[in-house]
Amino acid sequence: METQSLWEHTLTFFPQFLATMKEQVSADATVAVIGASDGKFVLPLAATGYRVIALERDPVAIHGGEVILPGEIQAHAMGLIDRLRLEGLYERVQVVEEDFLQAETLGSQCDAVWTSCSWHYSANHKHPLVDFVARMQSLVRLGGLFGAEFMMPVEPRHHLIEHYTSPEKLGSYFATDWQVLLTLRTSEFTEQAHVGQLQAHTHRMGLVLAIRTAE
Ligand SMILES: C[S@@+](CC[C@H](N)C(=O)[O-])C[C@H]1O[C@@H](n2cnc3c(N)ncnc32)[C@H](O)[C@@H]1O
Repeated sequence: METQSLWEHTLTFFPQFLATMKEQVSADATVAVIGASDGKFVLPLAATGYRVIALERDPVAIHGGEVILPGEIQAHAMGLIDRLRLEGLYERVQVVEEDFLQAETLGSQCDAVWTSCSWHYSANHKHPLVDFVARMQSLVRLGGLFGAEFMMPVEPRHHLIEHYTSPEKLGSYFATDWQVLLTLRTSEFTEQAHVGQLQAHTHRMGLVLAIRTAE
């Protein structure tokens, strides 16, 4: 589904996550998207029929506002809520405007949780990576699905920050109570300029999909 998200054209393993959702959880499952941004993944999940909890800390991503696009172009971006209303999907989505590491309003467990390249954001570095991962894990019911794609280290400074990680390093968090279904990684690739990174840049990305097998 084309969403017109500001992140629409960045590389993603989301199709692997969505295919695994279809195998592992029911058609009306609830999925939490952590770092939901302006809806690149929330909209297709809701359009597929899932109930979605969309958690995001950035008010511009949620409500819209002024952004700087590649070419130093200032533009007004539509936020997640207006995009959902436009597609008639707002009723299926609970939008939570909070920092995930502080959030207290997430309530009961979900059938699945997904995040895309969120935990490497500098605001999360004051907490160890395990805090972010363990919080995500705690949202998943027994038999539910955990999915995360994440930045792997490319620049020397990344190697000093544990939030730029790898499927191998994350493996220890899934050693008990989880069955890892799939890990993937890219080589270094060039991502075209986008909001937040106004020049073409080099990334390396990883993916972990896992099922909770015990409480
Ligand atoms: C790279 S962007 C999302 C790009 C992705 N392709 C997408 O559309 O979902 C990651 C998002 O995670 C959010 N984020 C990072 N840390 C967060 C936190 N602790 N709590 C809530 N949102 C967070 C950022 O504000 C940003 O909107």
